[in-house]
Amino acid sequence: MRFPDDVPVLTADSITLRAHTPADADAVYEMCQDPVMQRWTTIPVPYSHADAVSFLTELIPNGWRDENGSRHWAIDVDGRFAGTISLHDIAGGVGEIGFAIAPWARGAGAMTRAVKLVVRHVFDDLNWDRVIWRAHVGNWGSRRVAWKAGFRGLVVVPGAAQARGVRYDEWVATVGRDDELEPQGNWWTVPEFDGGTFHMRAPRPDDAKRVQEACSDERTQYWLAGLPSPYELHHAEGFIESRNEARASGEGVSWVIADPGTDELIGNVSIFGMNDRLNTRPGEIGYWMHPSGRGKNVMTKAVRLVIEHAFTPVEEGGLGRRRLTLLAAVENTASAHVAEANGFNKVGIGRAGAPGRDGRWDDDYIFDLLPTDPRP
Ligand SMILES: CC(C)(COP(=O)(O)OP(=O)(O)OC[C@H]1O[C@@H](n2cnc3c(N)ncnc32)[C@H](O)[C@@H]1OP(=O)(O)O)[C@@H](O)C(=O)NCCC(=O)NCCS
Repeated sequence: MRFPDDVPVLTADSITLRAHTPADADAVYEMCQDPVMQRWTTIPVPYSHADAVSFLTELIPNGWRDENGSRHWAIDVDGRFAGTISLHDIAGGVGEIGFAIAPWARGAGAMTRAVKLVVRHVFDDLNWDRVIWRAHVGNWGSRRVAWKAGFRGLVVVPGAAQARGVRYDEWVATVGRDDELEPQGNWWTVPEFDGGTFHMRAPRPDDAKRVQEACSDERTQYWLAGLPSPYELHHAEGFIESRNEARASGEGVSWVIADPGTDELIGNVSIFGMNDRLNTRPGEIGYWMHPSGRGKNVMTKAVRLVIEHAFTPVEEGGLGRRRLTLLAAVENTASAHVAEANGFNKVGIGRAGAPGRDGRWDDDYIFDLLPTDPRP
């Protein structure tokens, strides 16, 4: 192909994808100083103005000229250079997509629109079969763009990514030519709730110390025997980070129950098991309280708020659950009380259902709740 003459110009709304020009150099240089860019992409660090010039005058034109070379487009937002979107490793009707946008243009949906434009172009105009997206594990902004543009079947490939000689775990997802370019599955948000004597919010990295305290507590350790013992700070940090994955994959949502004055964590309540291959819309509620928060009826009220949210239809911002379950070891009377005070029905006993500490398996009560059941 001839560069820039054969580069197709693609447009949608306020976005134009076009051939880069040497006049983009200052903007490319500036964008590549951004720490987020440097963290998640393979650009040279430090990034010099000469790097921008050779990117624009050598790498990009050569890519277009080579039959199976990379294809880069400049992204203009409202007529101003905002970033780059590209296709690599193109052969046999499949290729990988890469993208980056300047900080000033982020968070307004521009990247998602650009991704959809390029994917539609390769399917509709070039007859491709599949586009592959890859990102370092933890690049949530990129994952969200891929999710919004219809990429699916996400897997983690340990050590598959490489940047500047360092290996990273990698997310990989794809979209095929017959797939809708729309989100697959739910990516839950964490609405905040005001419970009067407490409030509920998303977990944050600075909750780790209190999570560690709560999960090291003797009673928590006894009844939640699946928790690591000793429960160290990195376990708490891993738990908090894993909440992002739970929300993004649709599996679960966790709230921190916090003191309304200090915002300090006093407990945790989660709904999980929400992945829904058979469209039965299940959900299980689980919780633990920091010792400083116990005995004040807080968990009962917090679970009530989660139940309301769980039964609210997805279109109204809720979780659209059809049935909730809750399990409590038969001797864990405090936990059973929280369930019954919220209208859960004891429907049976799971024999040897609850792990105990010394290799023991305890029976647990199975509770369930339907939206039509009376609730306090
Ligand atoms: C990833 C990147 C391209 C996203 O660009 P963007 O303009 O923010 O993209 P969009 O506005 O189309 O969509 C981003 C979505 O991610 C969300 N998001 C951004 N950062 C997030 C984070 N850390 N955690 C969760 N969601 C995040 C935004 O809220 C938005 O979702 P919403 O529209 O539902 O609110 C941009 O951050 C970037 O250039 N990063 C550096 C380069 C890079 O990482 N490229 C991808 C390499 S694989």
